[in-house]
Amino acid sequence: MQKLKEEIAQLIAPLVALEPVEVIELLEIPPEAEYGDIAFPCYTLAKKNKQSPPVIAKDLGDKLAGREGVYWQKAVPRGPYLNFHIAPASYNLEILQNIIEQGQTYGNTNLGNGQNVTIDYSSPNIAKPFGVGHIRSTVIGHSLYLLYKALGYNSIGINHLGDWGTQFGKLIVAYKHWGEEERLEEDPVDYLYRLYVQFHQQAEEDPSLDDEARSWFRSLENGDAEAVAYWERFRQLSLETYASIYGFLGIEFEYYHGESHYNQMLDRVINLAQKKGIARESEGALIIDLEAYDLPPVMLRKKDGATLYITRDLAAAIYRYETFEFSRSLYVVGAEQTLHFQQLFKVLELLGFKWASNCVHVPFGMIRFKEGRMSTRAGKIILLEEVLQRAVEMAREIIEVKNPDLKDKEGAAIAVGLGAVRFGDLSNDRVKNIEFDWEKALDFSGETAAYIQYAHARICSIIRKAGSQYLIWDDRAISLLLKEEEITLVKTLALLPEKIFSSAESYRPSVLARYLIDVAREFNRFYHNCPVLNSEPELQHGRLLLINATRQVIANGLGLLGIAAPEEM
Ligand code: ARG
Repeated sequence: MQKLKEEIAQLIAPLVALEPVEVIELLEIPPEAEYGDIAFPCYTLAKKNKQSPPVIAKDLGDKLAGREGVYWQKAVPRGPYLNFHIAPASYNLEILQNIIEQGQTYGNTNLGNGQNVTIDYSSPNIAKPFGVGHIRSTVIGHSLYLLYKALGYNSIGINHLGDWGTQFGKLIVAYKHWGEEERLEEDPVDYLYRLYVQFHQQAEEDPSLDDEARSWFRSLENGDAEAVAYWERFRQLSLETYASIYGFLGIEFEYYHGESHYNQMLDRVINLAQKKGIARESEGALIIDLEAYDLPPVMLRKKDGATLYITRDLAAAIYRYETFEFSRSLYVVGAEQTLHFQQLFKVLELLGFKWASNCVHVPFGMIRFKEGRMSTRAGKIILLEEVLQRAVEMAREIIEVKNPDLKDKEGAAIAVGLGAVRFGDLSNDRVKNIEFDWEKALDFSGETAAYIQYAHARICSIIRKAGSQYLIWDDRAISLLLKEEEITLVKTLALLPEKIFSSAESYRPSVLARYLIDVAREFNRFYHNCPVLNSEPELQHGRLLLINATRQVIANGLGLLGIAAPEEM
């Protein structure tokens, strides 16, 4: 498109007494594809020349009648616009060659120039359920991580584990009273949660347990060896469980810097707030008033000296900037914490940190897993694990029916199952609440990962049948791709780079997800109307190169959503 724009600019500039760069700035994409590919609006000239825009458009059209260029083939006036139509042969050649040459890196750029972007995502809390919010954060956060990487940023994934707080006092008490070693070893995350629930039940009857828990937490905060040993053990065992789920999803965090990581830095935050004169004592607690900004006050320290979630987040933000000098710092956390992040960013700004404006809360709505045959088992603590297992199980059943002879059934079931969960989330605008419908998420003909994966597998199978000699580049074969479905497919493939960019820029993987549905749909339309293996050898060659480029676009795009593209399914 850029080359087309440049060519048009060179062509029009002398006709309208503008500089080529000025023409490029004016160029637009027509609202309907049938109008043309690039439009030159004539309003600016109309003012200058005191003529009506349609007259100018028509006049330019007349001047260019019968002519064509390398990248455009005709220029047609329509109302106040002059619409240029691309010359498919050279356009196709350019786009397809790009895709094939760049391969796995097609769509990537070096926009970020190696700058650091920190992405705080997933971030479950020890001894509390890994709930739906954490599923969404994991899936959306990981995709943003990959998208920023593709744009040349250095993505830094941080799991801000909830590994500090009064619940550890409770866990220590519960474990000392009722703990069973084997159960802890067997399923630590689940067992710690059970102990936590049990603690609350027993404390109703025996409030002295609460005092005991408070005292243990104080010991922990004071670095008491026994308390620290318990805490470390609980934390370590939980981390191992989480890590195995992340491993299954292909996710690695650069850092597991949980809340506890910032304990040593809290005094500094508090001193800084006092020095800046923004903190004040209120009934023994230390607070920051944000009334002037229409926000409730922030509490930095409670009456009993305990610090809070936001105190640790302040320290974490400062630490991240000092350590990574991020160009952006993302927090992929549910919309219910919007106020928390507004307060956090405002306080950072009041502390005088200019980089506060580069901190971004990426909120999302709720997801509900529709009940039914595949409803989740009540009481399961790591919902994510449960959901993934169910999805893979269902995918296995479907594949068993659809393709019983498949070689790597298990691999396909995992790809399709995990893809269904991720895509079911990522294909929706993240701010919306979504209902996850198992049957729909695994529907091979719906707007699903399976639909896209299937198009990919189908292409791989066609290429296998044809033989790899057809993957050798051939200009002439490409020049035969002149049918409407072929041209539209190429135009769709050409959009990957800008879709990656806008997904990352708007923090919306859904932009890329929706686009991949379009690619699969355009591929299917092409395949329905343009035979590949049964056409003339040269045309067949051109079409195979076209579908190979399509395969590449799908694989790259799904990859950025964290979804695998199996070659057979
Ligand atoms: N652990 C928190 C929760 O589950 C999420 C942490 C998000 N990150 C942050 N820096 N506050 O609610």
